[in-house]
Amino acid sequence: MKKILVTGGLGYIGSHTVVELQNAGFEVVIIDNLSNSTLNVLEGITNITNKPPVFERLDLRVKTDVVDFFSRHKDVQGIIHFAASKAVGESVENPLLYYENNLNTLIYLLQECKNYEINNFIFSSSCTVYGEPDVLPITESAPVKEATSPYGNTKQISEEIINDTCKVSNLKAIALRYFNPIGAHHSAEIGELPVGVPQNLVPFITQTAAGIRKELSVFGNDYPTEDGSCVRDYIHVVDLAKAHLIALQRLLSNKNESKLEIFNVGTGKGSSVLEVVNAFEKVTKQKLNYKIVPRRAGDVISVYADTKKANTKLGWKSEKTMEDALSSAWKWEQKVRNI
Ligand code: NAD
Ligand code: WQD
Repeated sequence: MKKILVTGGLGYIGSHTVVELQNAGFEVVIIDNLSNSTLNVLEGITNITNKPPVFERLDLRVKTDVVDFFSRHKDVQGIIHFAASKAVGESVENPLLYYENNLNTLIYLLQECKNYEINNFIFSSSCTVYGEPDVLPITESAPVKEATSPYGNTKQISEEIINDTCKVSNLKAIALRYFNPIGAHHSAEIGELPVGVPQNLVPFITQTAAGIRKELSVFGNDYPTEDGSCVRDYIHVVDLAKAHLIALQRLLSNKNESKLEIFNVGTGKGSSVLEVVNAFEKVTKQKLNYKIVPRRAGDVISVYADTKKANTKLGWKSEKTMEDALSSAWKWEQKVRNI
């Protein structure tokens, strides 16, 4: 069994990926500092896979702890690096927190990759690196635009750090640029659990339906899109998790075509905010309280992926529908709130 380190493995996307890795026979070690997750997630993963993953509560910003971890886990064969801070607004208010957490942690991990010849590295990047795209759907060769937030900047810089490291070492890496992950595991054992008021659309919708929020604010209906609301590419988190498994297998079997490969991970289909709201009402039979409010600062109009490269080279394709994602998100919300 190959041992894989998953940083941030108790978080939203990390936990779903750990499930896929364990189901595929990998031995998983999770590092997480619980800054945006809880120990209950371990139980959820164990219930789904019948196997508790090894877990170390550790803060990747503490270099000595990272060094110590690898001295005890010399047999790690690959790393999937999810751990990061991800709130765009918070990053504008506290940029140094974001540069420290998202860049130092990456650097410490890459230093240990060099020390222990761990040459397979998967990185959580984001479609945020494209900014407001000139051409849709967006291909991986579209220009990386000047970042509109420190968070977005950390993803751009991280890709550069990994690229530079690959050039001078045996490191092989894949950066997956996620579009908008939504949904939960169909078992409702794991899902997205935002701390405080959700910033993202789908958790805000499910919390509104659950009565925790009074109403959803739809940020703008005067955009140059079909119904006037913004368009995004919403990808089911389980499909996204599977992309990591495939990317890992690609690196482990040396099928990569360059030292750093970059793939969009989306469905290829754009959906507007109002389409998501309507789909949620239809699939859950819940009437959603919502109102149109002015645009939110910093929102891009329309973003969706060209998935050809991921489909043909990586051999990955999204399988689940928006309806699957919304019903699983609602099932998860109901479970968490005891509804
Ligand atoms: P998440 O917050 O649910 O998961 C991140 C996990 O990392 C959390 O469990 C947190 O406790 C842990 N963590 C953070 N800093 C740490 C540190 N210093 N040491 C150890 N653990 C630490 O986030 P997510 O939505 O699962 O996102 C995972 C990755 O994907 C992040 O890198 C994020 O930037 C990226 N991403 C997310 C989205 C999205 O919309 N969710 C989109 C694109 C990219
Ligand atoms: C989606 C749409 C909102 C909430 C963010 C990050 C991005 C990436 C994914 C990490 C937009 C609208 C939302 C609400 C609304 N993360 N909306 N009412 O902004 O596309 O992307 O998460 O890399 O970097 O910026 O996602 O879910 O916040 O918004 O109308 O209460 O829903 O305006 O059009 P976004 P989101």
